[in-house]
Amino acid sequence: MATGANRGTPGAQPLADTDAVVLVGGQGTRLRPLTLSTAKPMLPTAGVPFLAHLLSRIRAAGLNHVVLGTSYRAETFQEYFGDGSRFGIEIDYVVEETPLGTGGAIRNVADRLRGSTAMIFNGDILSGVDLGALWRTHREAAADVTLHLVRVPDPRRFGSVPTDLFGRVTAFVEKSDDPPTDQINAGCYVFERSVLEAIPAGRVVSVERETFPGLLAAGAHLHGYVDASYWLDLGTPAAFVRGSADLVQGLAPTAALPGAVGVALTLPGAVVHPESVVEGGSTIGPGAVVGEGARVDGSVLLDGAEIAPGAQVVRSVVGREAVIGAGAVVTDAVIGDGVRVGARCELIGGIRVWPQVRIPDGSVRFSADV
Ligand code: GTP
Repeated sequence: MATGANRGTPGAQPLADTDAVVLVGGQGTRLRPLTLSTAKPMLPTAGVPFLAHLLSRIRAAGLNHVVLGTSYRAETFQEYFGDGSRFGIEIDYVVEETPLGTGGAIRNVADRLRGSTAMIFNGDILSGVDLGALWRTHREAAADVTLHLVRVPDPRRFGSVPTDLFGRVTAFVEKSDDPPTDQINAGCYVFERSVLEAIPAGRVVSVERETFPGLLAAGAHLHGYVDASYWLDLGTPAAFVRGSADLVQGLAPTAALPGAVGVALTLPGAVVHPESVVEGGSTIGPGAVVGEGARVDGSVLLDGAEIAPGAQVVRSVVGREAVIGAGAVVTDAVIGDGVRVGARCELIGGIRVWPQVRIPDGSVRFSADV
């Protein structure tokens, strides 16, 4: 129940007395079939699990104790990240037997916190926010909760969060065609521990729909830290491939890229034919093969995927050991693990192919000629 001796007095050591909490328990339904076998934050993104990029930013900001709130595929996080020492941080795991929602998950980690303040992260957000500045704003405002609010070009797709002249949140406004501001909830918050502990325990709570509006109605001080930094919610296939490509090309910040920034990332064991084109921030996973005359643009090829000669893969994810046949066209698609796409097929426009499906040569087309 500490209220933070450091409030208003940021010291030399950045983010002192603060734990990081990362919510990674969601099912990731919008990314199926990729998330049938792998939790969203564990999906290889620019060569490493997405969460590795987020943790690299958390560490760089000076936060060294991280609590992961897990549920779906909980064991896979610990298998990869262990106690965190390999990544220069200390990781604690809290497993929800049944998912508690974002607010319930935050409340559920309370007894693992060590400091008086917690910085909470949605585990699927790629962002360039200055975490130190967010934290200082929280302390200087002596707020109960500070939300990162990002300004976006088209806020109509999101709920919006207006603030007053002093940066205090004045409302949480549902999605509408005429939002009052271009500021949206960016999925990263600083909570005073006492406020976090007041969230009801042991039941499903949505921090966005229940906790924040409730706190505002009760007169709590909710503050906004507003910026226009890089920001992307990787929840959909289109956003996932874009985020991965932005990481590879250095457009999105990370300290965890397993290679140099460039037009593509080719991981050890991948074989790319010299007469092929690999571009747009594509990642060619370990053991993947790109054949002669093939083009891979802005895409993610997972381990052992094979792109046959002359095939084109654009803004798509190709699952583990999947094969794209000769001359096939795959655009804006998610191809599940082990799928075989026959030669000359055309799979476009948001199509999702479930794992292990076999599509015969020339059998799925958009154009009439085969
Ligand atoms: P969709 O099913 O595609 O909407 O994805 P999701 O399940 O990840 O939900 P959403 O994108 O709204 O979640 C935002 C963040 O909160 C993600 O990092 C989720 O892993 C996390 N999250 C969502 N629900 C829960 C939950 O019940 N428990 C925990 N621990 N984390 C959650």
